[in-house]
Amino acid sequence: TAAAAESIARAGRFTVALAGGSTPRRLYTLLAEAAAGQAPAWGRIHIFWGDERHVPPDHAQSNYRMVRETLLDRISIPEGNVHRVLAETADAEAAARDYEREIRRFFGCGEEGIPSIDLVLLGLGTDGHTASLFPGSPLLDESRRLVAAAPASVPGPDRISMTLPLINRAASIVFLVSGASKADAVRRVLATDGDADPLPARRVAPRDGRLLWLVDEEAAERIG
Ligand code: 6PG
Repeated sequence: TAAAAESIARAGRFTVALAGGSTPRRLYTLLAEAAAGQAPAWGRIHIFWGDERHVPPDHAQSNYRMVRETLLDRISIPEGNVHRVLAETADAEAAARDYEREIRRFFGCGEEGIPSIDLVLLGLGTDGHTASLFPGSPLLDESRRLVAAAPASVPGPDRISMTLPLINRAASIVFLVSGASKADAVRRVLATDGDADPLPARRVAPRDGRLLWLVDEEAAERIG
């Protein structure tokens, strides 16, 4: 909320890429409740998704559906400010290319530029994945594309994911992590020793921006 107010005051708008999964459900619900009070200027806030499952927008596993139910249905935000992945597209790579085109169009960054999203919210998988960048994924070495199709290495549908070049250009990146099941991944990602096989989330290192970890006690159990 503070980041949005600062960005809107400075640049007249705030762009945020939301995380999927289950952890952020409570955050989005709280944001909707807060909006009932002092509503942030939703008309100046643009919502993107860090990743999406390759399913229609009303599917139980859709990250868009999760955000719609917890936040979008409870605030008044212009439809044009909600930039969802068209994950109903039959071909996941085509959906990824469309989403990259939408991001490039919105930020006006041409074919080669990498835009800076004001805030990217990320979760952390027990295997250290973030967004849909899974261990061993060739996407971890992507240096040019902003969005790509990502075969899921966890049960469930394939994915469409923002890539590290786009994520790491963000002005602020926030990890939101909860629960004992994540404690080992948190330890490995935050460890200062050299990791021969760095987990995907360890590759999140904003070039110029700020990186903030919001970790509850259970998930922080092993970082000492
Ligand atoms: C997704 C998310 C993914 C998620 C982690 C943690 O689409 O599932 O983007 O990266 O953040 O898997 O998921 P939980 O919050 O459900 O533990």
